[in-house]
Amino acid sequence: MVEHGLVSGNVAVITGAASGIGRGLAERFAAEGMKVVLADVEEKPLAKLEAALRAKGATVLAVRTDVSNAAAVENLAQQTLNAFGAVHILCNNAGVVCSRPIWEHTLADWEWVLGVNLWGVIHGIRAFVPRMLAQGDKCHIVNTASILGLVGGSGEGIYKVSKHGVVVLSETLADELAQKEANIQVHVLCPGWVRTGILDSGRNRPDALQNQAEKPHPRELLIGGSRNARAEIESGMSPTEVADHVYNAIQSGTFYIHTHPEHKTSVRSRMERILE
Ligand SMILES: NC(=O)c1ccc[n+]([C@@H]2O[C@H](COP(=O)([O-])OP(=O)(O)OC[C@H]3O[C@@H](n4cnc5c(N)ncnc54)[C@H](O)[C@@H]3O)[C@@H](O)[C@H]2O)c1
Repeated sequence: MVEHGLVSGNVAVITGAASGIGRGLAERFAAEGMKVVLADVEEKPLAKLEAALRAKGATVLAVRTDVSNAAAVENLAQQTLNAFGAVHILCNNAGVVCSRPIWEHTLADWEWVLGVNLWGVIHGIRAFVPRMLAQGDKCHIVNTASILGLVGGSGEGIYKVSKHGVVVLSETLADELAQKEANIQVHVLCPGWVRTGILDSGRNRPDALQNQAEKPHPRELLIGGSRNARAEIESGMSPTEVADHVYNAIQSGTFYIHTHPEHKTSVRSRMERILE
């Protein structure tokens, strides 16, 4: 048992659970004695994680879920309630990236990235918040944005649009739930570089949203026009450490979860530019 926030036996739902940050969160919550619901579109790693956590004695449910699909997320909520009778933590974490100059993006790029990163969170909120309210127990929602949800500049245009959306959606949700005196606390996770499979997001891009007759997605993305994203990711923070930040933020009731305080300077200078 912990003092407040999370309790052993609580039920945690994590989207994008099969890899990276989602996997780190699932492992941490399971290690704390929580029941974990793993949701991901990629079946093999999802099944592998389910088996690995079970082998460690965790109570686990894996539900293949495409978060860009409202019915699939509704099914995830139903299955969670059917299996465990309650939900206490929702981590809207699944995300993808693709990058090129913003005017060159195809409609398929926009639909894919906004579909997963922004609509995925919207579907999560719509499916789970009414159930959490009806339940009345202490609940937490952790929406994964990014430091790119707090800054501007060049690079990752669609991704930044989606993550800024997740930040303001989370702020609105938190304030409206507080006004209602609901027993639900909201958090928004804004990490810098994390060592995950994010740059290989294309592995999960649906056939219907592939770009036709185009060059393959570049493996070496340039962030802000100057940085080698793959090198940054490979030397980034471990998902386990990110999960520690999330766990501590839940326990302390912190809304904005910063994993890389050095990036606060960029946020501050953006705000100053706006105000000037
Ligand atoms: N890695 C970083 O440096 C970094 C930094 C800031 C924010 N983030 C955010 O962290 C979150 C997790 O990404 P990650 O870095 O762990 O990458 P990752 O690729 O390792 O994990 C993302 C997971 O999401 C799943 N996914 C993709 N499309 C999906 C869909 N339609 N439905 C359900 N699941 C889907 C993938 O299968 C994968 O398991 C994302 O929202 C990402 O934008 C990552």
